[in-house]
Formats: sequence, structure tokens, C-alpha cells
Amino acid sequence: MAKYLVTGGQALSGAVRVSGAKNAVLPTLAAILLTPETCVLHDIPDLRDVQVMMEILRLLGVKLVVTQDETRRHLLACAGSLDTFEIRADLTRQMRSSIFLMGPLLGRLGKVRIAYPGGCAIGPRPIDLHLRGLAALGARIVERYGYIEAEAPRLRGVEIHLDFPSVGATENIMMAAVLADGVTVIRNAAKEPEIVDLQNLLNAMGARVKGAGMDAIRIEGVRRLHDATHNVIPDRIEAGTFMIAAAITQGDVLLENVIPEHVESTSAKLREAGVNVREIGECMRVTNKGRVHAVDIKTLPYPGFPTDMHPQMMALMSVCQGTSMITETVFENRFSQAEELRRMGANIKIEGRTAVISGVEMLSGATVEAADLRSGAALVLAGLVAEGQTAVEGAIHIERGYENLDGKLRGLGAIVERVE
Ligand code: EPZ
Repeated sequence: MAKYLVTGGQALSGAVRVSGAKNAVLPTLAAILLTPETCVLHDIPDLRDVQVMMEILRLLGVKLVVTQDETRRHLLACAGSLDTFEIRADLTRQMRSSIFLMGPLLGRLGKVRIAYPGGCAIGPRPIDLHLRGLAALGARIVERYGYIEAEAPRLRGVEIHLDFPSVGATENIMMAAVLADGVTVIRNAAKEPEIVDLQNLLNAMGARVKGAGMDAIRIEGVRRLHDATHNVIPDRIEAGTFMIAAAITQGDVLLENVIPEHVESTSAKLREAGVNVREIGECMRVTNKGRVHAVDIKTLPYPGFPTDMHPQMMALMSVCQGTSMITETVFENRFSQAEELRRMGANIKIEGRTAVISGVEMLSGATVEAADLRSGAALVLAGLVAEGQTAVEGAIHIERGYENLDGKLRGLGAIVERVE
């Protein structure tokens, strides 16, 4: 099992390029299924989740060609004719996001058979909002033998109100609705930038989607979608992670390929903690001297503070001046990093959905375990500032969502290496 060996004490400095967003490229890859014509996607990050999604697409019959220039990867994809409507358990178990293949396959083929998805250990991760939305569009859904079978000769536009602004359910319903008869309105829709990015791709393919980023998304069904070229937006969570790396190591880092508005909530919290965060066009410069002040965090759907940034913030608060409270409102069980940070000397108490972190002067290196990609990233961040060496086991989890994390950190002066 691969791990990262991190030696603390280096203030990071220099420039790092943020990759295309994992949580944008995954639904974008699913959307390719909606047209028989060829789509081109720019800035595809080299991540395990992306590899799994591309393997699923290939097994469905999609032709994929990946090319690479000096900074970005590009994908040429053609779902001209699909060989099957079934997605095996060994693939869906590796990645929860496979669930939003249901929408495009229902829209394109009128049927789909998919095994229950797997994914992170951050809570039960139900899919009821996905299935209720697709059923409202007219899909007949049967759950048996560990599979979900859905069938819909024709999907019909409908008004759907989501109990929770679920990112995946919003994306799934959007992709099912673009080829449905009539108009679909998704109320209490997720507003994340990745939803807007998906709207932009779908409209480039000839769909009629409006309102992404607001409470209600309106989709007017069309008969057919066509080819499109699309630039995947930068990864706001990777950007936030590097912003915290600069802050925790008291460094000076320039992030390239960032949309400042997408990281606004993280910038605001870091400024509140005493970190200098400057927007320079599509770059962010983050500098910090001294230990940051304690700040309180409450995670919320976008544009609130992102749940995907709370573990990284917990690492920073572990060495802050004062006492910080982090309340996680989106997922049931996302505090796995707390136990591991304690091994490094952090002072963290968990009370229900709230973590109380009393900052300490110094963490000490230890062997710690990543349970999921963001808690793993948090442990690497803690290792950057801990005394001695930290071994972060479970690199495979981190590499689901971070492209070349060790290489990018070394480029900023960190002492980190990946060992099998
Ligand atoms: C997406 O997951 C992201 N993944 C997650 O990023 C992110 O944490 C999450 O949105 C919230 O922002 C991708 O985009 C691939 P949700 P998703 O549906 O769609 C409940 C990362 O680190 N819910 O918005 O699965 C659910 O249990 C990953 O990159 C239902 O109850 O998240 C959770 O409590 C982790 N029923 C809440 O909604 C449903 O049918 C948010 O889930 C669906 C969700």
C-alpha cells in the first residue's frame, strides 16, 4: 500500500498549477453519453476516479483518446454506439460518482442497470434523491440483487423539489432531463460551480438549461444533442488545499489556474485567521508569517464553506493560536482525520457534529492513516509542519482526488516522497 513520507519544517514557496476539477470532470464524462457525436474535453486531471470513470465508459462502448501537452491532458470521446446499458459492481463499488451515469443512459438508451455505488467512508451516502428524481421523470425503477434497474421508453419533464441540494442528484436529473419531452424544473438544486460547468457543457451540446448556480434549474428537453468542446473548470478544492499548505507552513505560494470566486469562502476564512490572500487575475497568492488565529467553521452547501475543505482546515487549526470549532453539517461522519491528527499531538475533541480544536505549538511526525481523499490531504498538510517525519498511509485514497500531489508539493520546496 503506497504512502507519503513527509518531513516537516519547510516553508513552501513558488508557483503551482491547479488541475482541472475532479468533481466537474466526472459528471462531464458522464454527459458524453448523451450524444453519438464526438466531444473534446480540455484539462482532464490524471486521477484514479477519472481512470475508473473512463474504464466504465470504454466498457459501455465509448471511444476515448487522451492526449497530453506540456501542462494539460485532453480527451476526445465518442459515444457513437453503446454496447450495453449495464455497469458492473466491481466498477461502481470503486466510485460513488458512477451513480450519475443513470441519467445520461436513461436519456440516451431508455434503460440502465447499475450496481449500488461505493465511495468514501464519510457516511451512508444514500441515493434516494437520485432515484426519486429519475422516477419523477417517468423511469420505472427496480432494486434487486444489489443492482438498480431503471427503464423509461420516454422521459417526461416534471417539477422536482430536492429535500437537500444534493450535487450528484442535481447533476443526474439534469442529464436525464435534457432529452426528455417537455420542461423539467429542479428546485432546491445544488449551486456548486461544478453544476454551472455541467450546464455550460450541456448547452454547448445543444441542450436548453438555465439557472445553474441558483435555486431552480430549468431544462427544456430537446430531441438530440451534438458534439461540443469544453474546458473543465479548475479544482477549487485542490486550490483550497494548496492555500492551506501555504498558510500552515508559513510560506508564500502562487496558485495558477484558479477562479477566485470559487474559493471565496476559504479565502475569507484564511484572511480571518490572519493569512494574506491576494487575487491576481486567475491566480491567488497566499502568504503567512507566524501561527494563524483560531477561526470557527460551519460547512454548508455552496456558496457556504465546503465540506471538502473541513479536514484540511482542521489540520491548520491544530497548530493555530486559540480554540476553533468546526461543525460538519453535510456528511454524517467526516472526522476520521481527528484521531490521526491526535497521534501527531493535536488537541481535538469531537462532540456530535462539532470538533473543538485547541491549537498546539508543534505537531510531531507519526505514522497515520488516510481514510478518504480529503482526510488524507489533511494529514499530509499536518506532516508539512510537524517535527520529524510523518508517514501517511493510504496514498491510494488521496490519489482519487489529487493529481501528482507529492510532485506539486516538492515543486514548492516540501520534503515529501511517495513510497510503495
Ligand atoms: C459531491 O458528492 C462531491 N463528489 C463530494 O466530493 C462533495 O463532498 C459533495 O458533493 C458535497 O459537496 C462529486 O462531485 C463526485 P451530495 P455527492 O449528494 O454528490 C445526502 C470529494 O471529496 N444525500 O451533495 O455524493 C448525502 O448523504 C467528494 O471530492 C442524500 O441524503 O454529495 C450527504 O449527506 C466527497 N440522498 C448530502 O446529501 C441522496 O440521494 C450531500 O451529498 C444524495 C445525497
